[in-house]
Parts: sequence; C-alpha cells; structure tokens
Amino acid sequence: MNLANLVGRDFLRMTDLTSEEVGALLKLAAGLKSGQLAPHCPKNLGLLFSKASTRTRVSFSAAIFQMGGQVLDLNLSVTQVNRGEPTKDTARILSRYLDVLAIRTYEQAEIETFAEYADIPIINALTDLEHPCQILADLQTVQENFQSLEGLTLSYFGDGNNVAHSLILGCALVGMNVVIAGPTDYQPDAAIVAKGKELAGDRSTITLTDDPKAAAENCHVLYTDVWASMGQEDLADNRIPIFQPYQVNDELLKLANPEAIVLHCLPAHRGEEITDAVMEGAQSRIWDQAENRLHAQKALLAALLGADGLY
Ligand code: CP
Ligand code: NVA
Repeated sequence: MNLANLVGRDFLRMTDLTSEEVGALLKLAAGLKSGQLAPHCPKNLGLLFSKASTRTRVSFSAAIFQMGGQVLDLNLSVTQVNRGEPTKDTARILSRYLDVLAIRTYEQAEIETFAEYADIPIINALTDLEHPCQILADLQTVQENFQSLEGLTLSYFGDGNNVAHSLILGCALVGMNVVIAGPTDYQPDAAIVAKGKELAGDRSTITLTDDPKAAAENCHVLYTDVWASMGQEDLADNRIPIFQPYQVNDELLKLANPEAIVLHCLPAHRGEEITDAVMEGAQSRIWDQAENRLHAQKALLAALLGADGLY
C-alpha cells in the first residue's frame, strides 16, 4: 500500500484509518523497529498536553528526534491556552509554526476543533473518548507474538473507557474479535460499539459481558487499564469493590489460551486491575508494548509528514 495516502491527514479517531492503512502502518512500524528502515524527517512536532503523560510524551519526542526533527513541549501554563485564548485561534497560530501537533485533552470535541482550524496534521494523544496511538502499538505487539491478527480474540477487563473504545475500533479494523468484560454500568459507549460492529461485519465479533471468566476462556490477549481514568480520580476508591471481579490475575490467566499474552497500556495500579505476579510473569508483554509506542508513533509521524526513506 502506498503510504503517500496518509500525508497531511489527521489522526483523531481510530476510524480515521482504513484496515489497509492500519496494516501498512504496522508493517512500517516493524521495519522501523528492526532497523530495516530509517526515515529522515526534520520537522517540528508540538505537544499540547492538558493531562499527565510519560510514555506518549517521551515516545513521540524520541520518535521525531530520531528522524532528525524537533519537539516543542507546549506546557499549558506557559501558553495563553489557560488564559482562555479560543481553541480555533490557537489552532490557526500553532499551525503556522509547527509541522504536526499531538494533543492530549479531555473533550474529543476540542481536538476536532483543532483539526478544523489547523492546516497541519493533528494527532489524538488521548482524549476521554479515544486513545488511538496506544492501539497502534498494541496491535504491533499482538502481531509480533501471533504473526497474523485476523481471527484472534482480545478480551479487555475493566472500565469501558478511552482505551477500550479505541481497542474495539482497532481490533474490528484488523479482523480481531473483542470481548469487553466489565460491570454493567461501566460498559463502553454504545455508538462506539455500534461502529465497531459495523466495521467488524462478518469478519469478527464485538461482545460485551459482565462475566470475566467467560471473557477469559480461550482468549489470545488479556488486556486491562485503570479503573478510574485521568479526570476521574475522585471516583477511584468507590470503584475498587465494583471492579474487583475484573482484576487480571493468575486465576483468570489460567482460563485463557495457553499461548495468551497480557497487555496493559500503563500506568498500572498493581493489586487493583492487575496483579504484580501477572505483570511480571512469563505471559506479560507489557514492556514490549510500551516500547512499541515509539515505533508505532514514529511510523505514524513518518507517514503523516511524508518522511524521506520510507521505501
Ligand atoms: N499509555 C499511555 O498513554 O501512557 P502515558 O499516559 O504515560 O502517556
Ligand atoms: N484510561 C487511562 C489511560 C491512560 C494512558 C486514562 O485516560 O487515564
């Protein structure tokens, strides 16, 4: 597939990519990881983050540095954003200085406004609705372990949050089955589930359940995330007893396919959504998954910016 299709595009939602484009980015990410490809991209990346970040901030920065580009980490407290400058004005101004802008914020609508008014690619570095960059790295990690993605089953345990949403859509795009196991009141957004089902078509299935054991049976990937996301910290303590049955632990892991791998987007709360033993255990691929943020995002930047040396 010709990656030239992706030049200048935004990546706001998982569905901004077709199945073919996800496949091409994963192939590129694998080529970058193996060292087979070393694109050159001396461009300026801005990071406008309203929430904390270790992996996303550092992996995006390292990715553009390694391609000969630079990062401007736009701390909100030193910009006029926190003093109420309208989003559409900030978007127009930043796109005159930068070549690409990754944004981490609360409302999906805010990055949609950025994309509307900016002339450069806007990347969703996490919103309350989606975390699509994470899912590119997750799919790369699954592919490294199972070669082909189609027909595998990923079971996600916990809150129907941003990561769950992008997993539903990303897995549907590549023909993987998804099971979301969580308390009935914490299921993913109905519109995202419907979109996932539409994308999956006859190729794969999207299943919601409140039964963690049924979800774990014979699955190939067990995935979990925090029970309270950034912005929901006040709710964290109350959620512990509600989500406890969905903890990824040895008991749940035993029900999965013997070759199953365990993923977590991180940061993790050991002893809550996942046990220390599972995180450190033989089936955990969590550290490879975190490393793959670098390769997958480098592939994304290279494609959106039309880097030299991609072929
Ligand atoms: N998984 C993830 O996005 O991590 P950070 O919040 O540290 O960027
Ligand atoms: N669901 C988590 C993911 C963190 C990477 C959050 O939004 O805080």
